Amino acid sequence: MFDTLKKSVAKYALSYIKKNSIIGIGSGSTIEFFIKELYTIFSNIQGVVVSSKKSEKLLKKINIPIYDLNSIQNLDIYIDSADQVNSSLEMIKGGGGALTREKIIASAAKRFLCIIDKSKYVNTFNNFPIPIEVIPMSLMFVSREILKMGGFVKYRKNFITDNGNYIIDAYNLNVIYPTNLEKIINNIPGVVSVGLFCIRKADTLLISYSNYVRTII
Ligand code: A5P
Repeated sequence: MFDTLKKSVAKYALSYIKKNSIIGIGSGSTIEFFIKELYTIFSNIQGVVVSSKKSEKLLKKINIPIYDLNSIQNLDIYIDSADQVNSSLEMIKGGGGALTREKIIASAAKRFLCIIDKSKYVNTFNNFPIPIEVIPMSLMFVSREILKMGGFVKYRKNFITDNGNYIIDAYNLNVIYPTNLEKIINNIPGVVSVGLFCIRKADTLLISYSNYVRTII
């Protein structure tokens, strides 16, 4: 069922793409559907900037030109999914571990279009661990800081990010004020980025339900 919803929202997102533009592309299973859809219009776009090696591999297969973010000045739109999104369009992302590059490209883009199925739209963030990418030597230090904040941590076993770092999944943190929490975690030395996307939240959210796609701006 969720695959059908992911597919329909991925298809709907194509209408947001401007002719001859370069677009930012995220990571994850929803985006894999989006990449398949992109193939149907790929001659209309100039190319993409991509947030993970996994998405890059898929885009290479369909011969879409891939640009380095450093080589472009204007990025019109970044299209990605999320793990949870609230009604303020703040997100938890990074379930797939690509949060740092996702945050960089999202921040560089004029517009963030987030595409999700209905299961990810929530009133308040709940039960989803907050991913934190850390420099390897800081793993224990950052973990102790999270414990001091009342959270507990799990490490992603055998997982190294595209940037050569580790991911801590933080549970039980107080996410009532997610922007504050994002700032606090960002400030722990050794943290590369945190999967709270509140400072750079989505501009437009597309949510797929069984028979329609809802747009929230
Ligand atoms: C990848 O690091 C994430 O931010 C994904 O965007 C997020 O986890 C959503 O993934 P799915 O589309 O697989 O649910």
